[in-house]
Amino acid sequence: MKVLITGASGFIGSHLAESLLSSGCEVSCLVRSVSARKWLEGLNVQRIHGDCSDRESLNNLRDFEYVFHLSGLTKSNCKKDFYTVNTTATENIIDAVVRNNPGIKRFVYVSSLSAFGPNLNGSPVSEDRNPRPVSDYGKSKLLGEAAVLKYKDTIPVSVLRPTAVYGPRDSEMFLLFKLVNTGLLPFWGKTRISLVYVEDLVRALILTAEKEEAIGETFCISDGMNYSNVEIIDEIASALQKTRVIKLRLPKTFLPVIGAIGDGLSKITNKATMINRDKIKELMHTDWRCDISNAKNKLGFTPKVGIKEGIKWTADWYKIHRWL
Ligand SMILES: NC(=O)c1ccc[n+]([C@@H]2O[C@H](COP(=O)([O-])OP(=O)(O)OC[C@H]3O[C@@H](n4cnc5c(N)ncnc54)[C@H](OP(=O)(O)O)[C@@H]3O)[C@@H](O)[C@H]2O)c1
Repeated sequence: MKVLITGASGFIGSHLAESLLSSGCEVSCLVRSVSARKWLEGLNVQRIHGDCSDRESLNNLRDFEYVFHLSGLTKSNCKKDFYTVNTTATENIIDAVVRNNPGIKRFVYVSSLSAFGPNLNGSPVSEDRNPRPVSDYGKSKLLGEAAVLKYKDTIPVSVLRPTAVYGPRDSEMFLLFKLVNTGLLPFWGKTRISLVYVEDLVRALILTAEKEEAIGETFCISDGMNYSNVEIIDEIASALQKTRVIKLRLPKTFLPVIGAIGDGLSKITNKATMINRDKIKELMHTDWRCDISNAKNKLGFTPKVGIKEGIKWTADWYKIHRWL
């Protein structure tokens, strides 16, 4: 099976590459000259040089049977960059795949629950409701979905909308682990969210590529449970053996100020951070649960990892790799 992954140098993409290699696939990864190499080191993958933001560089992507498009921008202090990487680059890659890969069996696009937006009516988000993204990240991913679904009558495409993903190598939820580890945590009230452990998401990605029923479909993906932020904080504290974590109460109205500070710092350091004004637009909402019935029914997706073991394994990985 000839597979191409974009975004393989990142957190989720590198886990997907490992899993596909272990099931015997011939894996190629689209990498940029600036791409991080550490997670692909030692893996028997073919590196193809190219950048989804540069149409010309995609002309040599030929004869793949499966394409997983994961490259994307999750944090930025520049609104325009979200649309360049998540929307325009997605248009570029799907155009290139349609042109040069006549035998394509599936193009899988990894979107995000942010493309749907938060729950505003009390029941978990499902695919049959109208998306209302609240951040530019979410809006740019929704436009990325549209770019892919535009071709659904030309090639077999599928879209996944994972909720927040965590696990070894993740540097985003890591921030929460780091804060809990200090014993002091900013807290602005209870929220309800879904999570998914990276290995479960990888299973969902592979099922999506395999199943006929997934063609033309969009699936929300989580571990099937809903958690409060307090439960998650407690689980992280327990995994890190922190007996006391002080929650520093902040008024929600203060969040945009924190976002602006994050954006300012990232301009100075030239390094994007998860604390930015765009992310704060999402954090202002208290309900990010999703319903995965469609994935269970059509993909036969059964999540295997809940937060008890997932958070423990992730914390252990951070400790072993001296991130904590
Ligand atoms: N992590 C989550 O909780 C989560 C949840 C829902 C959806 N997602 C989606 O899942 C995908 C992977 O996320 P991740 O958490 O694995 O992110 P990540 O670790 O930041 O990896 C992002 C990947 O995208 C590539 N990329 C970024 N900017 C690019 C550009 N301008 N041109 C080409 N490639 C670029 C990166 O390659 P370089 O090394 O070249 O920069 C990297 O391989 C993203 O599309 C994201 O929107 C993530």
